[in-house]
Amino acid sequence: MSLPPVFSALTEDDLDAVTALEASLQAFPWSLGNFADSLTAGHTMLVCRAGADTVGFSVVMAVLDEAHLLNVGIDRGHQGRGYGAALLRRVMDDARAAGARRLLLEVRPSNRQAVEFYLRFGFTQIGVRRGYYPTAAGREDALVFDKELP
Ligand SMILES: CC(C)(COP(=O)(O)OP(=O)(O)OC[C@H]1O[C@@H](n2cnc3c(N)ncnc32)[C@H](O)[C@@H]1OP(=O)(O)O)[C@@H](O)C(=O)NCCC(=O)NCCS
Repeated sequence: MSLPPVFSALTEDDLDAVTALEASLQAFPWSLGNFADSLTAGHTMLVCRAGADTVGFSVVMAVLDEAHLLNVGIDRGHQGRGYGAALLRRVMDDARAAGARRLLLEVRPSNRQAVEFYLRFGFTQIGVRRGYYPTAAGREDALVFDKELP
């Protein structure tokens, strides 16, 4: 990591940047409207900056004592440098501080980079949602991962 990550609450001013970032990462990206809806819904949304650059974001929905990581991404040019790990640690700290006892997420089994990332953090697979994600060829399952937040 050349520049340290700086985290702040995502605001309307960040919507264009995170939508562009998401579009560069995903074949079926969240739209600006999806991010805006999350803001309106009161989801916990963070932006990660390195200097002047927006390098990442996270979206977490709290349901009772569970936190659900709805989306996370790090700019391709900044991947593999520890920004994702720093962001996920911050997400877990914030969720724990807000009273969550576990963090849940879905991930595509074909997304080996993300699967390895979550395994590295001690997430375990607790289920499969059949045909959860769209693909160019049809549908793909989601692996459901979970981690206790002691
Ligand atoms: C998944 C993602 C957030 C990881 O962010 P990152 O900044 O690249 O991750 P880090 O550099 O902090 O790596 C943390 C750990 O993840 C694992 N990891 C990261 N990239 C990896 C890769 N390409 N292959 C295998 N393991 C990888 C490693 O265990 C790594 O730890 P290490 O560096 O000590 O070996 C990022 O790759 C990303 O934005 N991907 C596209 C969007 C996406 O898939 N989001 C998740 C949807 S569920």
